[in-house]
Amino acid sequence: MIEQNIWHPFTPLAEGYDPLEIVKANGMYIYTKDERKILDAVSSWWVNIHGHANKKIADAISEQAHSLEHVIFAGFTHQPAEELAKSLIELLPSMNKVFFSDDGSTAIEVALKICLQHFHNKNKDKTRTKIIAIEGAYHGDTFGAMAVCDRTPFNASFNSLLFDVEFIPRPTEENWMEVKEKFIQIVKTGEVAAFIFEPIIQGAGGMQTYSPKHLDELIKLAHNKNTFCIADEIMTGFGRTDHLFASEYLQEKPDLICLSKGITGGFLPLAVTLCTKEVAQPFYDNDILKTFFHGHSYTGNPIACAAANASLEILLSDECFQNRKRIAEKHNNFAKQINSNNKLKDKILEVRTCGTIFALELRTEEQTSYFNEWRKNIYNYFLDKNILLRPLGNVIYMIPPYIITDEELDLVYNEILNFLEK
Ligand SMILES: Cc1ncc(COP(=O)(O)O)c(C=O)c1O
Repeated sequence: MIEQNIWHPFTPLAEGYDPLEIVKANGMYIYTKDERKILDAVSSWWVNIHGHANKKIADAISEQAHSLEHVIFAGFTHQPAEELAKSLIELLPSMNKVFFSDDGSTAIEVALKICLQHFHNKNKDKTRTKIIAIEGAYHGDTFGAMAVCDRTPFNASFNSLLFDVEFIPRPTEENWMEVKEKFIQIVKTGEVAAFIFEPIIQGAGGMQTYSPKHLDELIKLAHNKNTFCIADEIMTGFGRTDHLFASEYLQEKPDLICLSKGITGGFLPLAVTLCTKEVAQPFYDNDILKTFFHGHSYTGNPIACAAANASLEILLSDECFQNRKRIAEKHNNFAKQINSNNKLKDKILEVRTCGTIFALELRTEEQTSYFNEWRKNIYNYFLDKNILLRPLGNVIYMIPPYIITDEELDLVYNEILNFLEK
């Protein structure tokens, strides 16, 4: 008997939520103790971009563990972290500094704190303290990250303790003039330190896409008022969209970028917050009080960095690029197939695709939300068929490892059709 003591994430401590015991994983599949083979169509919370147990990453980890497993990252540095920082800056050339942390939420905390302290360092009396975020956003579960998330039942217990954030609606063709006007009114106060967003697709908010053109305009408006822009690429980074990073859809570049999830190919927890030279500038000071006093025990862990370097090498290969392109085309074709099927019209609100991400929003009596009652039905239906899809309420989505084959994609698509037609 397992599971006496573990408190699992996003899981009620109630009967009926027993976890499946996984004994091994390989490629597209995870294997249960009772010998089930389950297709991981969500890359285990969006992290395993190259599938499970990738040999190249496993070998890099093993080699690194035998030479330097860890060292304090204040006052010391090492080759795996240096190599990773250099590669990331080469891929994101508007960035200049890389700050390491452990997961998506901490990368967000770091970004918010850097922006706030930037203005504090520059002028202690007149500081910018406001943040703008987008309704429907999800940026993580620590306090700062929670504050910039949409206010939902997820964070209701802590609402009174979260700092004030100005929320704007997610821009659409219909609401654009209203959103723009609201944004202008907020940034013109001169009190806004940063505007934070998930570029062009909000993940946990239901895989909701929005136009890069609108985002570009908002960033431009923010920059006109010296407000920094933070791109949360924790989900979109490392090839999830049609670009390596979703910021590449934008003409106007963000000032900070947060990355995690796919960074190590799902092997180890790691995150980075990148920023421009301008953002870091007020920290170049001999006054100790202008230091960024932030760090975690495992900051820049060499084994995690070695995993990230190996994962990046795979990501940048032509084979991986072709796979991502193939998945995006298959998703688009499947979306067309669904949209042209009149029998399904009543059942579906919208089908969305964005690179390797496919999402289908079911029309249900209850409105679209993480807590929509359909969630459990969908999850159980697919798990019974040995497919791991963990819907966001009534939104069924796939965010598969890039190694998924056409046959495996078809298998999941067919099962989605079976579910819709039942
Ligand atoms: C866009 C985005 N930001 C931040 C986070 C938080 O990341 P983590 O769960 O690693 O703390 C997530 C996690 O789903 C995310 O999707």
